[in-house]
Amino acid sequence: MTITVIGTGFVGVVTSAVFASFGHRVFGLDIDEGKIAKLNKGKVPFFEPDLDTLVAQGLQSGRLVFTTEYELAVPDSDIVVIAVGTPSATDGTADLKFVLAAAKQMSACLQPDTIVAVKSTVPPGTNEKVRSVIEDETDVSFSVVSLPEFLKEGSAVSDTLNPDRVVIGANEEKVIDTLLKLHEPMRGKKIIVSPESAQMAKYTANAYLAQRITFINQIANLCEKNGAHIEDVIQAIGADARIGSHYWYPGLGYGGSCFPKDVKELAAYARSIGEGEGLLVKIDELNDKRISQKLGEFDKAVGGFKDKTVAVLGLSFKKNTNDMREAPSLKVIPYLKEQGAIVKAFDPKVREEVEQHFGKIFLGEDVYETVQDAQVVILLVEWDELVQLDLQKLKEITKSPHIFIDTRNQYDPAKMRHLGFSYIGIGNP
Ligand code: UDX
Repeated sequence: MTITVIGTGFVGVVTSAVFASFGHRVFGLDIDEGKIAKLNKGKVPFFEPDLDTLVAQGLQSGRLVFTTEYELAVPDSDIVVIAVGTPSATDGTADLKFVLAAAKQMSACLQPDTIVAVKSTVPPGTNEKVRSVIEDETDVSFSVVSLPEFLKEGSAVSDTLNPDRVVIGANEEKVIDTLLKLHEPMRGKKIIVSPESAQMAKYTANAYLAQRITFINQIANLCEKNGAHIEDVIQAIGADARIGSHYWYPGLGYGGSCFPKDVKELAAYARSIGEGEGLLVKIDELNDKRISQKLGEFDKAVGGFKDKTVAVLGLSFKKNTNDMREAPSLKVIPYLKEQGAIVKAFDPKVREEVEQHFGKIFLGEDVYETVQDAQVVILLVEWDELVQLDLQKLKEITKSPHIFIDTRNQYDPAKMRHLGFSYIGIGNP
């Protein structure tokens, strides 16, 4: 098959490279010429494990080509995937301007019976808008379907190759057959539903996971007041098969490019169709104020950050990515600076962006250089190298009062205290 994937953001590049690896001819299309030129040289504009290898293999095979030209890619394509961004509009709803612009631009080049697959996260009703934009420009027959993505940054390639499930939102049998063929090499369960159900499944999954994190953070707050250990509570509830023990870890709340946006968008969508938005709004509110609440508590616990040297470890929103969208560091570092702390920072992958976000701060080449002489160490992200610290060395090179704030509960509180650290975790006494 020949496939065009419009949008060479995170989802678009992963999707293009994966489909090319299945033996299809794939055009990754974007209006950004600079990005396309780099991609054609094998330079992926963000860090994602294994993606550069997959892109390089695709380019080498000749099956993967990046282009800015709709006229080159779309006329040959059996499937055109829309994977452009849907930023939130001012009222919180998904702004469809890039989706509809892509629809308009492809329309003059469509061959008959092309499948237009919307992968961008969009609310029900969007496919009709896409259809209408295309129909205004052409008389050829085409179908509009939904193909939501569920990949996680940091493990996007393996998530795409081995997904838990592939959700295909389509109604016509012939179209469903083609899409099943396209996804055949993927191991996960294929779930065929209507486009509306597929779109709701995407929002529901993300909103549910976001509320799960918010919920456990609320419980962690209670544990901090009553002597319970959140990790023990999770172990105990996780044994209940209805609940499970995964995807529960407490922290400073969820971040990234999906959860914050999708929870807000689902709330705005509920409002727009005259439905209640209560729970969704509450999840968003609680998550939004979590970091500042915790920072206030940490400030008290350390006797004030003012004039203290604080080493912040982990600047991305989570491990194995350099994506900083809604990363805790974006709130933590400005707060520390405002309080008058001397901030030092380290991240295995985030570097160039640091000055733009935080102004001039010390950015260590390695973690031990960063923690040298720090009185407080704050672990924000569980990068492998940050959760395997040589604790003895850490104790020796940090300064009194040797405070360690572990926002990911990666270290054993008893061991840390035994080593002489003043340890602060999440949801522990
Ligand atoms: C998420 C969904 O998992 C994915 O299916 C969807 O397609 C896009 O959104 P992603 O944002 O890449 O993916 O990351 P994920 O690993 O799910 O983490 C999201 C946020 O929640 C991060 O800030 C993470 O640190 C936080 N989180 C996650 C927790 O605080 N606790 C947890 O138990 C899990």
